[in-house]
Amino acid sequence: MLAATGSAVGLGNIWKFPYITGENGGGAFVLVYLFCIAAIGIPIMMAEVMLGRRGRQSPVNTMAYLAKEAGSHKVWKYLGWMGVVAGFLILSYYSVIAGWATAYVFRAASGVFVGQTADGIGSLFNDLISDPEKLLAWHTIFMVSTMLVVSRGVTHGLEKAVRFLMPSLFILLLVMVGYALNSGSFSEGVDFLFTFNFDALTAQGVLIAMGHAFFTLSLGMGAIMVYGSYLDKEISVAKTSMGIACADTAVALLAGLAIFPIVFASGLEPGSGPGLIFNTLPIAFGQMLGGTFFGTLFFVLLVFAAWSSAISLIEPLVAWLIEKKGMTRIRASVWSGMITWVLGIGTVLSFNNWAENKIYGMTFFELVDFLTANIMLPLGGLLIALFAGWVMKREHSKDELAIGSTLWFQLWLFLVRFVTPIGVIVVFLNALGLF
Ligand code: PFF
Repeated sequence: MLAATGSAVGLGNIWKFPYITGENGGGAFVLVYLFCIAAIGIPIMMAEVMLGRRGRQSPVNTMAYLAKEAGSHKVWKYLGWMGVVAGFLILSYYSVIAGWATAYVFRAASGVFVGQTADGIGSLFNDLISDPEKLLAWHTIFMVSTMLVVSRGVTHGLEKAVRFLMPSLFILLLVMVGYALNSGSFSEGVDFLFTFNFDALTAQGVLIAMGHAFFTLSLGMGAIMVYGSYLDKEISVAKTSMGIACADTAVALLAGLAIFPIVFASGLEPGSGPGLIFNTLPIAFGQMLGGTFFGTLFFVLLVFAAWSSAISLIEPLVAWLIEKKGMTRIRASVWSGMITWVLGIGTVLSFNNWAENKIYGMTFFELVDFLTANIMLPLGGLLIALFAGWVMKREHSKDELAIGSTLWFQLWLFLVRFVTPIGVIVVFLNALGLF
């Protein structure tokens, strides 16, 4: 459970959630996101954990094995495949953004935020992202350190790290919210996050909110399946899934509550994009008592949170290379790391040299993010729900989930059979303008 929480809580909560909320008008977007977590995310997480625990192999082989067990077709293993591809595509840009956070550890520690205006903080950020060499160097550092850990096998250190990391991150976010409460435009921030103005929400925004529910919970690509395969038989899948979803959501909402008051107090633009946290939080660190210490600690924790998610993004590919291609773990890690690193160069350049090169109106980074978070993960989740609800034998899912009461089991079954698939399809069609 700790490792899965480490996978779920990451840049998605602290970096991505605030900036996409800002871009999509605030409250109504948040409401749709919360609804998707509850009605789609939690049932799919239960399904993924359950499939992983029954299959006990890499996602590709788990799906092949379970399809056979259920007397169904081998094609289900391609679901595992899609997850492998989605994971490495996501990691390619995730590592670049984690690189920004790593750069900010050193900036915070050097005290450069102290006494800066919002403009000064903004130009520090622009200096970083407009320099491809710097971005490449940080991306490389993050990728190499992730692959070093992956190459040694995951679980040992990870749980210990997460046990300390998550509570620390949580407390530090509370400190930031406390700062915002006193010094930011707190009520404006709260209004922005929790006033449901549906006029501000587009069909595209609904798709992004749903995609983010998958992204933030690490669903739809087999990452959680991997951890499910390590889960003991006695542990409740339902309680574990709900615990992870609640912790994950709490971190995202706290990040929002820390950031938006600063946005409004400093006259910044909520929809200013991926730089949002880097343009806002340093303002607070520059002004608060002990800001250099808190700022450094914050970015260190953010890098660790990103790192525990990054491991789970690449693990399905590494596990598959080991199982199917007979590679050693080290060799599999080096290969996976290298292709991910190369693809990440596209994201590095999306913020400078290639910023004006658009494909369907999107930069390379935006395109990879859109394809993975908004298409591949929900599609993967849809297929997982269909498999768990319709293909797997009911006595198997019932046995594996071990929910004592029949009523709760029926509710879960109803959600994965109908609500989740129909929900995902409706949101897809809606975004295509067909609904
Ligand atoms: N859930 C992670 C985050 O919110 O940062 C990102 C992620 C990790 C997505 C692992 C998917 C995944 F399989």
